[in-house]
Amino acid sequence: MRKIILDTDIGVDDAFALAYAAKTQNILGITTVFGNVPVAQAVKNAKLFCREIGLDVPILRGCSRPLALPLHANATDVHGSDGLGDVLDNPFDDRAGNAVDFIIETVRAQPGEITLVAIGPLTNLACAMNQAPDIIPLVKEVIIMGGAFGTHGHAGNVTPHSEFNIWKDPHAADQLLSSALPVVILPLDVTHEVQISGEDIRELNQPVLTAISQGYLRYSLEKEGFEGMALHDTLTISWLNHPQWFTTVQSPVRVVTEGITLGQTLRKLTPLASRYDPFAHCRAQTLCLAVQATQVKQAFLHSLRLVN
Ligand code: BDR
Ligand code: CA
Repeated sequence: MRKIILDTDIGVDDAFALAYAAKTQNILGITTVFGNVPVAQAVKNAKLFCREIGLDVPILRGCSRPLALPLHANATDVHGSDGLGDVLDNPFDDRAGNAVDFIIETVRAQPGEITLVAIGPLTNLACAMNQAPDIIPLVKEVIIMGGAFGTHGHAGNVTPHSEFNIWKDPHAADQLLSSALPVVILPLDVTHEVQISGEDIRELNQPVLTAISQGYLRYSLEKEGFEGMALHDTLTISWLNHPQWFTTVQSPVRVVTEGITLGQTLRKLTPLASRYDPFAHCRAQTLCLAVQATQVKQAFLHSLRLVN
C-alpha cells in the first residue's frame, strides 16, 4: 500500500479510480483541478463521492485554469453537467484549502514516501514543482493517466492526436514530463483497452457506481461505438497494485504545445543523433503500451464488489 495524493478533476471514471484507491492504497488527500468540470464543481464532487463511499480524507482546491492557454470547454458530454452523471443531489459547498500548498507540504514532510497520482490535467503538479522545486527529488514517483502513443490506433480522444487530460493543459504536461520527476504514464493505449460493461457495474452491488455511470455508458455506445466503459483513470491504481500486467518502454516524452497537434504526446523513436533534439536532457519516463486487460479488469471488479 503506497501513501498517495490523488489529483483529480473528478468525473465518472475518476470516481471509479477513487473507489479502487480507497480499497487498495493509503490516500493522504484528494487535490482537485479543473478538467471534466470547473474546479469548484470538482471540490463538491470529491466531497459528495467521499461521503458516498465512506472515505474521510482532506479535500483540497487546486487550479481553475491552464498555465498558458484559455480554458477549453468541460467534458459534460461524457460525464454530465455536474461531472457525476447528473443523478445525485449535491449539498456540499466548494470551500477547501489550497491544493498546491498541500502537495508541497506533504512531500516535504515525508521525503521519498509520497506517490502523486494524477488523473486530470497536470496543472496542480506543475505549479507545485514550479513553486517549490526542492520537492522534485523528494517525490517517490508520479503516476498519470494521460496521453496517447498510437498503439492499436489509440492516438487521441479529444482530437485525432490528443488525449483529454494532456490537451487541457499541454504546457503543464510538458513541464512535468520533461522534468527530473520519475513519471509512469498510463495512456489511452492501455486505458482504452480495459472496458467494463453495464452488467459488470451492476454486479458490483454499489448503487452509486451504477447510477453515475449510466450517461457515460450511453456516450460510449452512441459516440464511440462500443458497449461498455473504458476504465481510464482506474488504470493508475491498477498499475500500483499489479505492475506485472503492463508492458512498458522507457523513453523521454514531450508534449506539443501549439499547432494542429496541440496536446499530442511524443516519445523519442529514432536512435539517430539529431542536430536539434527536443528530448535532450529529458529523463526517460516509464510508458505503458500494452496491458493484460482481462486480469486488470477482474482484479478491479473483485476489489470493488460488495458482498451482502
Ligand atoms: C481522461 O479524460 C477524462 O474525461 C477522464 O476522466 C480521463 O481522466 C481520459 O482521456
Ligand atoms: Ca479524469
